[in-house]
Amino acid sequence: MTASTVEIRTLCGREVRAVVDPLTRAFWNYPESVHLLPQENRRRRVLPRYLLSDAIDAARFDTLLGAVIGGAVVGAAAWLPPRAYPIPAKRQAQQVLSFLPVLPWAIGAASEGRRGQTANRAHHRGLPPHYYLRAIGVDPAHQGRGIGVALLAPVLRRANDEGVGCFLTTATLENARWYEGQGFVTRAIYKPTPTWPQTWAMWRAPKT
Ligand SMILES: CC(C)(COP(=O)(O)OP(=O)(O)OC[C@H]1O[C@@H](n2cnc3c(N)ncnc32)[C@H](O)[C@@H]1OP(=O)(O)O)[C@@H](O)C(=O)NCCC(=O)NCCS
Repeated sequence: MTASTVEIRTLCGREVRAVVDPLTRAFWNYPESVHLLPQENRRRRVLPRYLLSDAIDAARFDTLLGAVIGGAVVGAAAWLPPRAYPIPAKRQAQQVLSFLPVLPWAIGAASEGRRGQTANRAHHRGLPPHYYLRAIGVDPAHQGRGIGVALLAPVLRRANDEGVGCFLTTATLENARWYEGQGFVTRAIYKPTPTWPQTWAMWRAPKT
């Protein structure tokens, strides 16, 4: 199968939940997932909720993109547009509420997760208007075929058209290199908390 058979489109309504399984598989061994949820039984319950909450939030702004092959979602990118960030208290509360069903398994990770978010925010604050990539993942069975690049492309184009930047953080050197290939530059390399995996804050200026 080649990337040419993949349809990249905005997901909404019932399709939003379809991103959870491929994203969970993509993020299963991601350093942040393993750091926050080292026990697999907890990760199995909490990680899908976390990813669903990012997907729902992105879908509110029509910036949840899916890669679809034969009707099945195999990857997704959850972006927030410039007007959606910082996340106001109401949307934050909705995200917290969405964790209630898995609270017993999430509680251990919550305070470390909050500390990490606060540190990440410090690298994010004060930037000019931008699209913010909350999550991108491709089902491991479909990786390395151009789907990730295809998922990034529509928002990178839109950001160029609107003359705004793009921001993300990532937790592996391989990913940082991959994003560099898409025009991002590393702004900072840091550890959000003493035990958190090394993190790259990356920025892509609009191309005219
Ligand atoms: C990062 C990710 C989204 C990339 O998606 P993908 O569909 O595998 O990437 P693509 O096939 O579009 O990449 C195109 C090119 O980058 C290469 N590439 C893919 N993943 C790479 C990686 N992690 N590091 C370096 N190069 C990579 C491909 O080999 C390909 O190179 P080529 O065009 O020279 O053959 C995917 O690997 C993934 O889901 N990873 C797990 C979750 C994750 O880490 N998400 C990012 C969090 S910030």
